[in-house]
Amino acid sequence: MGSPRIKGNTDLLLGEALKGAQSEGAEVEKIIVDKLKIAPCREYYGCLRDGNCVIRDDMDDIYPKLLDADSLIVASPIFFYGLTSQLKALIDRCQSLWARKYILKQDLPDSARKGAFIAVGATRGEQLFDGSILTVKYLFQTIGVQYVDELLVRGVDKRGEIKEHPTALSDAFELGRRLAQK
Ligand SMILES: Cc1cc2nc3c(=O)[nH]c(=O)nc-3n(C[C@H](O)[C@H](O)[C@H](O)COP(=O)(O)O)c2cc1C
Repeated sequence: MGSPRIKGNTDLLLGEALKGAQSEGAEVEKIIVDKLKIAPCREYYGCLRDGNCVIRDDMDDIYPKLLDADSLIVASPIFFYGLTSQLKALIDRCQSLWARKYILKQDLPDSARKGAFIAVGATRGEQLFDGSILTVKYLFQTIGVQYVDELLVRGVDKRGEIKEHPTALSDAFELGRRLAQK
């Protein structure tokens, strides 16, 4: 969950998606990135040696979760046409996993794992989600996850305003359900 706003639009959408997944028997965990201490990538490139980041912080607990989950949902509001900086820091720190795959040629988890992207933005621009979709797809490719589903909601701004949207919350529930079924 890339938003710093608890009970905000992303949080509510992700909550519904997780309920949908649970309705299919999935065990779920929501990671609120804003509550973690994750330094941005410093390009030390220790990961080129052995696939491990040399920075010690809360990413230590995140790497195994990213690699062990059967499915992943990335959820974020759009900030300046991108993901939030909290979430982008986490993604950039996955450069060590990129090094494992593309430099060290290590085996990754089963690439049949499925992933979905949930995003919300205040405006209605046609390209509102384009940059973020590319980032999430590249993350998924790096960690062996297929981008199979998305829920992109325009025109939602105030905290909790998503509740007034006619379909978004039930769409999120269904996304979670589908993901757990696959
Ligand atoms: C720093 C910042 C940058 C934002 N940039 C954009 C933007 O580029 N495009 C957009 O449509 N909305 C933008 N927004 C609005 C948020 O995407 C919108 O309020 C969203 O509903 C917040 O979701 P949340 O409640 O999950 O945090 C921005 C908001 C903030 C705080």
